[in-house]
Amino acid sequence: MIVTTDQLFKLAYGKFAIGAYNINNMEQTLGLFKGHVKAQAPFIVQISKGARKYAGVKMLEAMLRSAEEMYPEVIFAVHLDHGDEATCYECIDSGFYSSVMIDASHHPFAENVAITRRVVERAHARGLSVEAELGMLGGVEEDIALDEKHALLTDPDEAAEFVAQSGCDSLAVAIGTSHGAYKFSGKQGLHFDRIAAIQQRLPGVPLVMHGSSSVPAEEVRRINEAGGSLDPAARGVDDDEFARAIPLGVTKVNIDTDGRLVWTRVHREYFRDCPDGFDFRKPGQVLIDEYANFIVHKSRKLQSAGTLPLVREALQPAFRV
Ligand code: G3H
Ligand code: 13P
Ligand code: ZN
Repeated sequence: MIVTTDQLFKLAYGKFAIGAYNINNMEQTLGLFKGHVKAQAPFIVQISKGARKYAGVKMLEAMLRSAEEMYPEVIFAVHLDHGDEATCYECIDSGFYSSVMIDASHHPFAENVAITRRVVERAHARGLSVEAELGMLGGVEEDIALDEKHALLTDPDEAAEFVAQSGCDSLAVAIGTSHGAYKFSGKQGLHFDRIAAIQQRLPGVPLVMHGSSSVPAEEVRRINEAGGSLDPAARGVDDDEFARAIPLGVTKVNIDTDGRLVWTRVHREYFRDCPDGFDFRKPGQVLIDEYANFIVHKSRKLQSAGTLPLVREALQPAFRV
């Protein structure tokens, strides 16, 4: 069942976080749904502009509608990840999405507010909610690369002003994370003081943590043993820290890179062990199962595992898309 993002946030805020996973293909989609049935957790499916271009808008929608039929007990929202204004409008008008993210964080504050405000007006008129971003995450985002030094943590006062002026429903905040496999070095990690200060200025407003992959060392080791050459020092967010971020208002946790690492490990190991193999369904089946296991693991860390019956019970028909 596809539901509004807003309702999932209301149920989760302060208690657990909703995992938001990007999808690009069928195996990933099957693993995503299978994993959430196993974990008994609600989730958000994220579609990026890159995914829309790669798989095609119609294919993504058809895949999700089919998965919804195959796994009728799942409860999920469909979200545009890192949208620009034009793509937000396309998604809002399509009638398929639960929410959109307008990412105008690379613009000056006033322009970010103005763009977000326009998207909010159009989205709210159609019953969708809007995630906006303030601050600059490190890594590569919308083709803009920012190194750790130039990434800017979200300012709590500005965050309060931004939400009041733009009317956005949730806020992606820069709190130390970055996109991709290389997030932290040395003692770097999440800035909990900053999250707490933002929550104090924005009580009850769901905060979104982008760049939340863990980049497990074991995954990197296995990829490299099977012929990859990822930097063994690659490090992400310790997923045990989600538990500390949840009471501080972090309600949506975006994870993409870790799923890509599962794909890479499965395929590298398969073709290393079966160099004469060419039936793509064999690694494909392994991927579906391993992706589902990865989802179960993340759902436990996000504390969303086991909440599905409660969420189903609490969902009012009015919130169903
Ligand atoms: O934050 C971006 C997500 O990892 C999606 O990546 O734009 O390459 O699909 P993508
Ligand atoms: P990761 O690169 O850490 O998986 O972050 C994904 C993300 O933030 C998608 O919006
Ligand atoms: Zn992101």
